[in-house]
Amino acid sequence: MHHPVSFDSMHAVQDNTLVSQRGAPATRPAVLVQPPIPPPARLIVGVSGASGIIYAVTALNLLRSMNIETHLVVSRAGQLTRSHETDLSREAFEGLASVTYGIGDVGAAVSSGSFATMGMIILPCSMRTLAAIATGLSDSLLTRAADVTLKERRRLVLMVRETPLHLVHLRNMQAATECGAIVFPPVPAFYTHPESLQDVVTHSVARALDLFGIDSQAIPRWGETIGMAPHLGAQV
Ligand SMILES: Cc1cc2nc3c(=O)[nH]c(=O)nc-3n(C[C@H](O)[C@H](O)[C@H](O)COP(=O)(O)O)c2cc1C
Repeated sequence: MHHPVSFDSMHAVQDNTLVSQRGAPATRPAVLVQPPIPPPARLIVGVSGASGIIYAVTALNLLRSMNIETHLVVSRAGQLTRSHETDLSREAFEGLASVTYGIGDVGAAVSSGSFATMGMIILPCSMRTLAAIATGLSDSLLTRAADVTLKERRRLVLMVRETPLHLVHLRNMQAATECGAIVFPPVPAFYTHPESLQDVVTHSVARALDLFGIDSQAIPRWGETIGMAPHLGAQV
């Protein structure tokens, strides 16, 4: 028997946006749906030229300790900030990943949606890379892989780093969010009583990995190992 399909339901299936009851597109961000096949333990790690290569080093080390395959793409400016901010050679840095690609290699595995991954994290994410992603500009393997991650409705986490922010930065963050990306500035938490810069960095990276369902067990968690026991209530 033929089941009629309404225009609204077709629209919702085709472009994966929310549709209001009256049929007008809602203004809320696109919904992320489950990928059709379970992803392997494999994450794309992008590094752009914002300050904070230490976030990428920390992520690659944590992911390696969990046997999660990492596919690394570093922009030219990312290589520049690496040389400014760390003692790591290019080879030593790239050696932290399972696989590394050249920034111009737009035919690499991660440039195709058929290459299954858990998604992509870009850390740190510069305002230039954010702008390219927000406008669909796949001008390098880094931005192409991000574009593919969004089109496949996979998780894309952007650890943006700049301050202060002007209106175009904010608009690009909004546009990226509307496309399904998660904008994740590495804002420190102080309730964990960090004792070192590495503690602060690890906390941000571990919270970003949480968004992929990856529990690095590298941080204390509120209500578990830190924070008030629920039965004590607030005693302030
Ligand atoms: C040491 C250093 C620190 C930088 N820090 C930032 C930053 O925190 N945020 C940012 O958006 N750009 C920063 N930049 C500028 C970017 O590297 C520059 O805009 C570059 O074109 C980004 O290119 P990419 O997005 O392809 O990596 C920094 C540059 C240098 C050399």
